[in-house]
Amino acid sequence: MKIIIDSDPGIDDVVAIILAIKSRKFDIMGITTVEGNCSLDNAIKNTFKVLDLVDSNHIPVYKGSGKALNNRNVDATEVHGANGIGGVDIKESKRKCEKESAIDFLIKTVNENPGEVTIVAMGPLTNIAYCIMQDNNFVKNVKKLVIMGGAENGGNVTKFAEFNFYKDPEAADIVFKSGFREVIMIGLDVTTKLPLSKPLEQLLKNINNEVSTFIYDISRIGAKFDREVLGKEGFILNDPLTIAYLLDENVIRIKNAYVKIEKTGDKIGKSIVEIADEQSESNCKVAHEVDLKKFYNILFSNLFPDKKNEITMAIGKIKGTI
Ligand code: RIB
Ligand code: CA
Repeated sequence: MKIIIDSDPGIDDVVAIILAIKSRKFDIMGITTVEGNCSLDNAIKNTFKVLDLVDSNHIPVYKGSGKALNNRNVDATEVHGANGIGGVDIKESKRKCEKESAIDFLIKTVNENPGEVTIVAMGPLTNIAYCIMQDNNFVKNVKKLVIMGGAENGGNVTKFAEFNFYKDPEAADIVFKSGFREVIMIGLDVTTKLPLSKPLEQLLKNINNEVSTFIYDISRIGAKFDREVLGKEGFILNDPLTIAYLLDENVIRIKNAYVKIEKTGDKIGKSIVEIADEQSESNCKVAHEVDLKKFYNILFSNLFPDKKNEITMAIGKIKGTI
């Protein structure tokens, strides 16, 4: 499966990128970066650090948008740390971004492979919106757009809005009005059910290799925030669910919906989700249930394939299934 990952790494983006690489199930044609959780500069640096960590220097990285369409000055450094990876200071990569911009790469690659490329958007939708505005063939040539963003109910920045849509509501509005063949919206309704809870933190510590230690270490600030501010059982693994869905579509249940984006007022960034029946129009499919244990098994068995027993034990301690 040909994919392009559009991302603002970001702790959960990092876990999602490692999952995509270690699953060995994807032809990752490139990673395009966007400002979101942290500055664009840090998002780029973090992307290269991850690729170095998992020996994936064959994957090209492209510089995307350093600010939202309306230049909203919003980030999530209180969750992801000032450097975007929980303040962890690992060796900086020597690699540099490709000369081609993220937008040019996205447009060219999609148009040269019509109907074959799935875009996984894990950050604000700024880059995707620019592609739509700059090229009339882009939308119809994208095979599928999988978005981590939005929510049918609730928010994580305000009580109405999820961060990726809150950061760039104009971009989200353009994306949901553009008519892609297939849009899968994976929002907080399902992702907030996926904390890196204590049994899983202990699993990472027990595995004690370079990747498990890195994931544990970078998620400490986020875990403190998600526990103390959001009242969750650990750091919320939002972005990895997009990759888990591509690995096994049965990890979530989806329903047809028509999604509109609030662009102004106190509900700015809210995704207004109207569930569609057979007769009514829809512009996406929204995830409304997640199989917790299936997700955690997909994630950890791909990250640590030689630790099946330890993984089964840890997941067995987790309450709930859907
Ligand atoms: O609201 C969660 C989303 O915003 C995740 O993609 C996280 O990485 C941030 O980008
Ligand atoms: Ca993200």
